[in-house]
Amino acid sequence: MSGANRDREATGNDAVPFGVYVHWPFCLSKCPYCDFNSHVRHAAIDEARYARAFAHEIATTAARVPGRVVSSIFFGGGTPSLIQPQTLATVLDAIARHWTIAPDAEITLEANPTSVEATRFRGYRAAGVNRVSLGVQALDDAALAALGRLHTAQEALNAVAVARGAFERHSFDLIYARPGQEPDAWRAELRRALAEGSEHLSLYQLTIEPDTPFAALHGAGKLVIPDDDLARALYDTTQEVCAAAGRPAYEVSNHARPGAECRHNLLYWRYGEYAGIGPGAHGRLVVAGNRRATATEKRPESWLMRVEGTGHGVITDETLTRDEQADEFLLMGLRLIEGIDPLRYEWLSGRPLDVARIAVLVGDGFVETTPQGRLRVTPSGLPVLDAVVADLAA
Ligand SMILES: C[S@@+](CC[C@H](N)C(=O)[O-])C[C@H]1O[C@@H](n2cnc3c(N)ncnc32)[C@H](O)[C@@H]1O
Ligand code: SF4
Repeated sequence: MSGANRDREATGNDAVPFGVYVHWPFCLSKCPYCDFNSHVRHAAIDEARYARAFAHEIATTAARVPGRVVSSIFFGGGTPSLIQPQTLATVLDAIARHWTIAPDAEITLEANPTSVEATRFRGYRAAGVNRVSLGVQALDDAALAALGRLHTAQEALNAVAVARGAFERHSFDLIYARPGQEPDAWRAELRRALAEGSEHLSLYQLTIEPDTPFAALHGAGKLVIPDDDLARALYDTTQEVCAAAGRPAYEVSNHARPGAECRHNLLYWRYGEYAGIGPGAHGRLVVAGNRRATATEKRPESWLMRVEGTGHGVITDETLTRDEQADEFLLMGLRLIEGIDPLRYEWLSGRPLDVARIAVLVGDGFVETTPQGRLRVTPSGLPVLDAVVADLAA
């Protein structure tokens, strides 16, 4: 069976999802914890030139994987809410010209919650965006300042209110396990966040990423983050408070009312097919029956020159072996509370999961099999997910 058919058959669905990720790589300032592909430029960005390059790369990618029906589009960053709505409309037009955008497609934009950006929300809605994901990060001004954010908690809440009026759907991000944060304070902050009534929240534990200013401070002992026990207590508080408020976790860091999950991110975790457009974007494309991993040049100016010269910025384009696909499928799928279909693992890898290893993990209380035959990580297994996946993939 070809890779494409294998993927299609395993989803058991004719309307196979296809996502488009578009990366906008610029920010007004660099937050000290962040290692995303984001850059600060003091000169004005030539948006029209970038829009042409995005359209060019979309055309080149669509020629490789033609005829797809796009079920979700995600503008991520960087800070895509710095883009003019007209630029975004141009990119959406290019996607619609080269593929078909499904009538009910989810079109998300990541936004920073400043008052300036909120003034553009209606323009984004008119361009076709129907979901916004706001990087609120904290509802405490001292914590926001420590995270290097350019907005206050009140400004962020005002942006959430504008988003609620402008878009059908919205979500916001908070970072917890911050220096000095205790479970009681986090519980109160999270309850305040949930009181906003948003259907979806992404709640990330602060990670010290290598080569960031936070990593340097942490290495020098000047930034102390919660130890493992405290981080676990904060994680447990998160699960308990969100579940009680009707927004249980559906993925390790993502919480939603049932039915309000982010469809684009679900596509990644369910190991679907998606195109990566823009500087430093990753894709997984099924080309001539092979699942290929693509990645583009990260530096915005170099990406721009490559696209203008060759029609695309792709610098990595590899066929994944069956083992690589099976490992990626496990790594992504076990992040989901719904877990994975072990038969799809077998389709991808050509061999079943190791029953003896599963039995040990079940005995330890880290994984379980559902009555429908799916394999999923239990609440006790999720905090040690990496070890569970490594064990199953070994
Ligand atoms: C691409 S980023 C942010 C989008 C937008 N530029 C913003 O900052 O609001 C997506 C999310 O990743 C999270 N994030 C980034 N770096 C992180 C880190 N080191 N630890 C935990 N969460 C992080 C933040 O919550 C952020 O909103
Ligand atoms: S967290 Fe957001 S605003 Fe801050 S540097 Fe990263 S992408 Fe830019």
